[in-house]
Amino acid sequence: MALTLESTIKLNSGHELPRLGFGVWQTPADTAKDVVTDALTNGYRHIDSAAAYKNEAGCGAAILSSPLPRSSIFFTSKVPARNLSYEKARDQVATTLKETGLDYIDLMLIHAPYGGSAGRKGAWKALVEAVEEGKVRSIGVSNYGVHHLDELEKHIAELEAERGGKGKGGVLSVGQWEIHPWLPRNDIVDWCKARGVAVEAYSPIVRGERWGEKAVVDVAAKYGVTEAQVLLRWSLQKGLVPLPKSVTHERILKNAELYGFELTEEEVKALETEEYSPVCWDPTVSTLED
Ligand SMILES: NC(=O)c1ccc[n+]([C@@H]2O[C@H](COP(=O)([O-])OP(=O)(O)OC[C@H]3O[C@@H](n4cnc5c(N)ncnc54)[C@H](OP(=O)(O)O)[C@@H]3O)[C@@H](O)[C@H]2O)c1
Repeated sequence: MALTLESTIKLNSGHELPRLGFGVWQTPADTAKDVVTDALTNGYRHIDSAAAYKNEAGCGAAILSSPLPRSSIFFTSKVPARNLSYEKARDQVATTLKETGLDYIDLMLIHAPYGGSAGRKGAWKALVEAVEEGKVRSIGVSNYGVHHLDELEKHIAELEAERGGKGKGGVLSVGQWEIHPWLPRNDIVDWCKARGVAVEAYSPIVRGERWGEKAVVDVAAKYGVTEAQVLLRWSLQKGLVPLPKSVTHERILKNAELYGFELTEEEVKALETEEYSPVCWDPTVSTLED
């Protein structure tokens, strides 16, 4: 079926994730409410924030003041990356609920795998409990390498044994990584695909650092669209959930106009490079001890 702005992915948790997200990293706290309201008014239904972005309150205010039903909006936050622990993750869920004023969080991610094995297991356990308590609907991780993901599977099995059986270890629904044609991360994407885990792509337009690349410019000219639209369409057609960020009204509109053209399979393949060029941090390469 053709993709639309209303398209969703059914998560392992059973909940629906809107295929296009809206990022708010570096969106100032005092403009977050207006920016998120603009995005919601123009069709976005999926907001990606984090405790570290210090704008959860503005996101919550926009969601609560929107005429849209709460159930039609998907709100993500993240447990801060440093020194993960059970207590910190549990406390962060409470803080995010308080900051946003929401009575549940659609998705809580562990922002990055720092904190050692026991810290990661503890943080995951706190999120599993938050789901059981109805505070969070789906859970996942961000910036985990394949070695961290394998360890998480082990932790889930251990928690099942410790907490009384199947399902008690929690369900991994979503992973979030920097992904674009200069960092396709096919090893991680394949790991997730094999397990039905939805993959979100952050910095999907490479933070504006790759404008003018001939391959993208040519495809943009062919379809009469912007380079950003080509990169976002690439992400969607790779089966990813892109999370473009903008505080600029015109760009917010344009970045959601992705459904009037379609890249060919050859174009999707040809745009992808063999580079490994992050423009953000890269915790996926950290060790299990970090
Ligand atoms: N989990 C993680 O560790 C992690 C890390 C990074 C990002 N993220 C998430 O992913 C989201 C997106 O990533 P990102 O913010 O790094 O990068 P991005 O979305 O690739 O790029 C955002 C930058 O591009 C500009 N821009 C947006 N649309 C444009 C357009 N159509 N034409 C030209 N420039 C445009 C924005 O400027 P203006 O805002 O000034 O318009 C901003 O400077 C974040 O906001 C966050 O929610 C998660």
